[in-house]
Amino acid sequence: MALSWCPGTIIDRKVWTEGLFTIRVDVEGVNEFVPGQFLQIGYQNDDKHIHRPYSVASPWGREIEFFIVRVDDGELTPWLWERGAGDPLDVSQGAAGSFTLKKTPRAEVLWLVATGTGLAPYIAMLRTDEPWQDYRKIVVVHGARVGEDLAYADEFNQMASDRPGRFSYIPTVTREDVPDVLRGRIPALLADGSLESAAGSPMNADNSAVMLCGNPAMLDDMEKLLETRQMKRHRSKSPGHIVLERYW
Ligand SMILES: Cc1cc2nc3c(=O)[nH]c(=O)nc-3n(C[C@H](O)[C@H](O)[C@H](O)COP(=O)(O)OP(=O)(O)OC[C@H]3O[C@@H](n4cnc5c(N)ncnc54)[C@H](O)[C@@H]3O)c2cc1C
Ligand SMILES: NC(=O)c1ccc[n+]([C@@H]2O[C@H](COP(=O)([O-])OP(=O)(O)OC[C@H]3O[C@@H](n4cnc5c(N)ncnc54)[C@H](OP(=O)(O)O)[C@@H]3O)[C@@H](O)[C@H]2O)c1
Repeated sequence: MALSWCPGTIIDRKVWTEGLFTIRVDVEGVNEFVPGQFLQIGYQNDDKHIHRPYSVASPWGREIEFFIVRVDDGELTPWLWERGAGDPLDVSQGAAGSFTLKKTPRAEVLWLVATGTGLAPYIAMLRTDEPWQDYRKIVVVHGARVGEDLAYADEFNQMASDRPGRFSYIPTVTREDVPDVLRGRIPALLADGSLESAAGSPMNADNSAVMLCGNPAMLDDMEKLLETRQMKRHRSKSPGHIVLERYW
């Protein structure tokens, strides 16, 4: 089905590091969506509309936030990277996707695990009351190559001080040593106990729901590891523990 487009305008752009950025877009007419869903964004290039799906990093409203990384040989992101305040951008009228808290099982601990810009849907969720009402403890695990890529760290650190004992933010990096940051890929840090130790909570079938978002290799490796803990994909007809969103 053809997509309907709403004309948006970029309000501002925050650059976290070269190629990694957040844009806020002013757009009217986007249908109500829930945190975790994605919209399409793009532009008309001669006779072709170029667009891709992006998780929304903010709750529904007239101002919508996206957290994006430039894929150097990509079709859309090099164009997006060049845009700034005042530039036009098309946003799809309707959102899609079932990577939402409604489709996630309830548990004592909610683990929100992301690589790279896979963090976006969690930012939208955590800016609402819903996860705080439904889970006793929430843990964000962010995997990045280097310390500079740990975007949104200030916001998460603020959440941790606002909600003592209820929220843990665990940044991790793979390609350099950073003080007070775990080094290694997320599945390895789970396997050796570092993540659970940093969170102060175990990740198991009795106490945890796990959301996974970003690099598909991380999703696959985590799912395999969680299977050894008797944790499986959550489906409406067959309840489990894991929900995931593959970015490519
Ligand atoms: C549901 C969903 C939500 C998404 N949300 C976000 C988001 O919030 N932020 C975001 O930055 N991206 C997000 N993506 C990825 C996004 O849709 C595009 O695929 C990405 O921005 C590349 O677009 P492009 O046109 O520049 O590259 P393309 O020309 O489409 O692709 C180039 C190649 O890069 C691969 N690729 C795509 N994304 C990445 C990546 N991050 N790292 C490495 N390789 C990649 C693709 O498989 C492809 O082979 C999401 C994807 C999906 C399916
Ligand atoms: N600053 C930026 O982030 C930036 C800027 C410009 C362009 N780019 C481009 O954007 C694209 C995406 O880069 P990205 O760094 O956002 O995402 P990414 O390549 O998915 O890497 C993010 C993190 O995921 C880890 N990872 C990869 N496979 C994994 C697995 N199987 N299990 C667990 N973790 C795994 C990576 O570890 P490893 O280091 O071990 O691979 C890294 O720590 C790349 O093409 C990159 O060149 C990025």
